[in-house]
Amino acid sequence: MKNQILSKLNAACSWRDTLHVYDTVDSTNTRAKELAKQGAPHGTVLIANAQTGGRGRMGRRFDSQAGMGIYMSVILRPGCQAERLMHLTCAAAGAMCDAVENTTDLRPGIKWINDLVWDSRKLGGILTELSVDPGTGLAEFAIIGIGINCTHSQEDFPAQLQQLAGSLAMATGKPVDRSGLAAAMIEALYDMDRRLLTQKDAIMERYKADCITLGRDITVHQAEGIRHGKALDISPDGGLVVSFADGSTETVQSGEVSVRGLYGYV
Ligand code: BTN
Repeated sequence: MKNQILSKLNAACSWRDTLHVYDTVDSTNTRAKELAKQGAPHGTVLIANAQTGGRGRMGRRFDSQAGMGIYMSVILRPGCQAERLMHLTCAAAGAMCDAVENTTDLRPGIKWINDLVWDSRKLGGILTELSVDPGTGLAEFAIIGIGINCTHSQEDFPAQLQQLAGSLAMATGKPVDRSGLAAAMIEALYDMDRRLLTQKDAIMERYKADCITLGRDITVHQAEGIRHGKALDISPDGGLVVSFADGSTETVQSGEVSVRGLYGYV
């Protein structure tokens, strides 16, 4: 797999020198964190054929069966205050839409904040983890973890995901070039990294265009309870601006948002 990816990866992409490809790991994000703590450089890329403990947001598992998806993590050392990286997940999501579109001609939608979707099914997700120096507020490193379902048919997913998850093969009806997609993902993240701090407005405009949550009826699940509303906008830092049924408008920064019409929510 490593040689196939390298043969498809732009020769000018310097991250090719710090590419690690594994057969099976617990989680590429966990492994990336270990490598980052040992000093691995900016642009270290980890890809696994399978994960035994693939992780998603909100402590969820990410189904990571052997040879069926791309399970990738990238270590970034942006060298800036952590507060300037609030849009990182949005930037990575847009980059992944570019990578999928370049490889398959299909551009997924984004369900706020980190899900790639097609036809109301989840194609993949992004888990961003940040290590911050508490004294200075500087970001020591960021890990961007991405999982994309590639070759599955519906029956390949665990029973509880069969109505919720989809794959690029299901979406396109064609075989998926996994090494080509992996190379496109690395290139898209490399490009995103170069624009991350200087082209924030353009990145967020593109994110809004891809975000299928906007304009939809949603349910926000927060510690205080469940609230219904309509998704109005995305804030510059990636928050979801919601008009709630009680007439208030608030920006939601975290938590779970269900979108009517998606993942079986009616
Ligand atoms: C989500 O759906 O909430 C995010 C899923 C992120 C999954 C990827 S797979 C590669 C990397 N390693 C992990 O353990 N998680 C991310």
